[in-house]
Amino acid sequence: MSKRAFIAGVADDNGYGWAIAKSLAAAGAEILVGTWVPVLNIFETSLRRGKFDESRVLPDGSVMEISKVYPLDAVYDTPDDIPEDVKTNKRYTGSSKWTVQEVAESVKQDFGSIDILVHSLANGPEVTKPLLETSRRGYLAAISASSYSYVSLLKHFIPIMNPGGSSISLTYIASERIIPGYGGGMSSAKAALESDTRVLAFEAGRKNKIRVNTISAGPLRSRAAKAIGFIDTMIEYSLANAPLQKELSAEEVGNTAAFLVSPLASAITGAVLYVDNGLNAMGVGV
Ligand code: NAI
Repeated sequence: MSKRAFIAGVADDNGYGWAIAKSLAAAGAEILVGTWVPVLNIFETSLRRGKFDESRVLPDGSVMEISKVYPLDAVYDTPDDIPEDVKTNKRYTGSSKWTVQEVAESVKQDFGSIDILVHSLANGPEVTKPLLETSRRGYLAAISASSYSYVSLLKHFIPIMNPGGSSISLTYIASERIIPGYGGGMSSAKAALESDTRVLAFEAGRKNKIRVNTISAGPLRSRAAKAIGFIDTMIEYSLANAPLQKELSAEEVGNTAAFLVSPLASAITGAVLYVDNGLNAMGVGV
């Protein structure tokens, strides 16, 4: 039975969202993506011009098709939430119906239902600042874009998710251990995301038979990670100290996502699953 997935947070072929899309496509799922409005144009142009053609190739030689790209800004739930300066911002005026509620409505209109929801997005405007130097506004923005966005996506997509459906997000170990450099309230946002994973697993499980899990991924040189500024150090640290001394590939996270949303994981919900070459299990660096 073919499943349909909506993956929020794909804007190039370097991040976890893209790798998850590929693993799900390789397993036979139909792929829909939600792309952040300010980067929608460049993503669609690159797709159309074939810039991602090489990385669209799946292990069996076929090519990943994306059935539809939806503009999305997961910081806004309904049109009433959009402030005037965003409404008139020229990076936004070219797109419409990009609030979470409207995207869910559009997906319903276009496809009827989905089986899999993936949240692969985060944003913390003050991520490079230590927590003690983070403003209230920056902290709340990190939580809004990186944690509440998941609550909102689930809330709006659950009504169009088939029973037995499944949802995942991506988190980072800075939620539970001190990772200097992961600032701006992003560590707090990931802690919220992990806690919410448990509560949402309960609520969506009882009410809708939907599973909710999160993958705590190791470091990947994505666009978002490069913006934080310490990604190369984190990759080197992992290489030096993790039980498995190899660079983590996005595909390894993608494959775990495919497992988690499949019937093979039918009893797993509310879990934080580490895909990090085992680094989380170390007590000291050696
Ligand atoms: P990425 O840059 O590929 O993905 C982040 C995406 O979020 C981008 O496409 C961006 O356009 C989108 N986005 C930002 N604000 C948005 C908004 N308001 N509405 C909709 N989309 C928005 O980077 P990456 O690293 O693959 O990030 C995906 C997830 O993986 C994030 O949750 C991140 O925290 C998590 N993660 C990343 C790690 C890494 O080392 N790269 C490690 C552990 C977790």
